[in-house]
Amino acid sequence: MTRAEALITTDVGRAADRLCAGGLVAFPTETVYGLGADATNDDALRRLYAVKGRPAAHPVIVHVASADRLDDLAESPPPYARVLAAAFWPGPLTLVVGRRRGTVSDRATGGRDTVGVRVPDHPLALDLLARVGRGVAAPSANRFGCVSPTTAPHVVAGLDGDVDLVLDGGPCRIGVESTIVDCSTGAPRVLRLGGITVEELRAVLGTDVATGGATAAPGTLPSHYAPKARVEMVAAGEVAARAAELARSGRTTAHLGLEPPDGAPASLLGLARPRDVDEYARVLYARMREADERGVDVLLVVPPPARGIGAAVVDRLHRAARGTS
Ligand code: TXA
Ligand code: MG
Repeated sequence: MTRAEALITTDVGRAADRLCAGGLVAFPTETVYGLGADATNDDALRRLYAVKGRPAAHPVIVHVASADRLDDLAESPPPYARVLAAAFWPGPLTLVVGRRRGTVSDRATGGRDTVGVRVPDHPLALDLLARVGRGVAAPSANRFGCVSPTTAPHVVAGLDGDVDLVLDGGPCRIGVESTIVDCSTGAPRVLRLGGITVEELRAVLGTDVATGGATAAPGTLPSHYAPKARVEMVAAGEVAARAAELARSGRTTAHLGLEPPDGAPASLLGLARPRDVDEYARVLYARMREADERGVDVLLVVPPPARGIGAAVVDRLHRAARGTS
């Protein structure tokens, strides 16, 4: 058995025991794999931050098994937060709410008086969280600034010996992280675009929802989610000319987009084309990894329309493009 095989398991009971004993256990969610630690255990959290390479002031999301656990962690959440929890949990939505003291460690919240809470929509994650019975802090299971993992082997490739166990639930269904909504003030504000669309939030709340908040959160820094390859965002009609130019300068170039790159030079590597925007979100990080594995210098990306889940894809592409330019 290889080292990677020894780390990967489908045994939820074993994963729960390891978490309760203070271990770092990666687990699947519908968005991306999380790197879990008991949110009440200071030592486990200290190790989590060290392994991620994440600044201590950046809070992590606390995952729980059901919406009725919100009040365990939150101090009088506003009515609209309850509406969102009822509508979208389990699901790819994180609610930032005023924190109830003495429930999770200060380390999980980066010392803030708010806490990010989420109920993930994945059967193995829900089983795991129910068995653990307390909040599980889980940032995406990648090192700080790297591309989030959407399969168990991605987690092992990125973290190697620094994770105690990886619970394997197959490839993630959504592929980009949860939408984060700040519910700590009088009106909801989207802090990070993600798996629940702004259109869905508006429909449920019956009001407009502000987007783009100032917060020192890693997923909201401009250069995040970046592969080693340089990411260039181009319009569909520009791919052929740009690919030819890059080929002349000797760069290994690949293309990702919904349309075939008509008229491009034969040297342009085609990464398997997503059929629609949902698939685009699902495969985005895997394609970025593939580009790196194939030694690509420049990844020419044609973004999808910025509607629905496409808005989250475009957001991640902008960050990837800025991170490496
Ligand atoms: O889909 C997801 O959300 C995945 C899966 C594993 O659940 N998790 C994830 O975690 O993306 P992470 O740590 O990579 O990103 C969490 C984001 C960060 O930008 C963090 O700063 C923000 O959530 N966050 C967490 N708690 C917060 C708080 N109290 N106030 C503001 N931002 C918060
Ligand atoms: Mg992350």
